[in-house]
Amino acid sequence: MFEIKKINGQNIEAVFKLYQKINLYNKSSVTFLETMKKPYHIGFCGYMNNTLVSFISSIHVLDEIDIIEIGVIKEQRRQGVAYKLVSHLQKHCIKNGIRKTFLCVAENNIAAISLYEKTGFNKIGIRKNYYFRDGFLSDSYEYSWKVKS
Ligand SMILES: CC(C)(COP(=O)(O)OP(=O)(O)OC[C@H]1O[C@@H](n2cnc3c(N)ncnc32)[C@H](O)[C@@H]1OP(=O)(O)O)[C@@H](O)C(=O)NCCC(=O)NCCS
Repeated sequence: MFEIKKINGQNIEAVFKLYQKINLYNKSSVTFLETMKKPYHIGFCGYMNNTLVSFISSIHVLDEIDIIEIGVIKEQRRQGVAYKLVSHLQKHCIKNGIRKTFLCVAENNIAAISLYEKTGFNKIGIRKNYYFRDGFLSDSYEYSWKVKS
């Protein structure tokens, strides 16, 4: 059974550990933990049979949010978990009057790009040479999703 909960004081450390396990690109882990504690953070995590397997993290400013991270543990990928989390966040936006959602994704992250396009995001821009990973520069694709009025 798959269940989604809000990221809160009770599960934040477990989400952080999961983030460290999934995060391949050595971003500042401390920054991510601190971000999750901020009042403007909106995050959800997914449990498969009571085991934490996924999370989505975003920042809320006025009527917009920026998705900053999403991750699913390797063993649970390609089963619709991330799709459910993104859809859940979109429903949260609709319910709470948050009209626009933005995110950035590396041009070579085919899984994430396909996920966002499947959940209705549109490509709105490219930042050239934005990422430097494994010795290579890559572009960042910017995506947005807007609540239909
Ligand atoms: C990207 C990620 C979150 C997807 O999680 P997931 O639970 O496997 O995704 P879902 O099963 O919900 O897939 C939803 C859709 O995304 C796309 N997708 C997911 N994984 C894919 C892959 N490996 N290759 C191509 N498309 C993929 C497909 O369109 C899929 O729909 P379909 O199954 O009907 O074809 C997961 O691969 C992950 O955690 N990656 C590492 C962290 C990361 O890159 N995060 C994104 C940072 S921007």
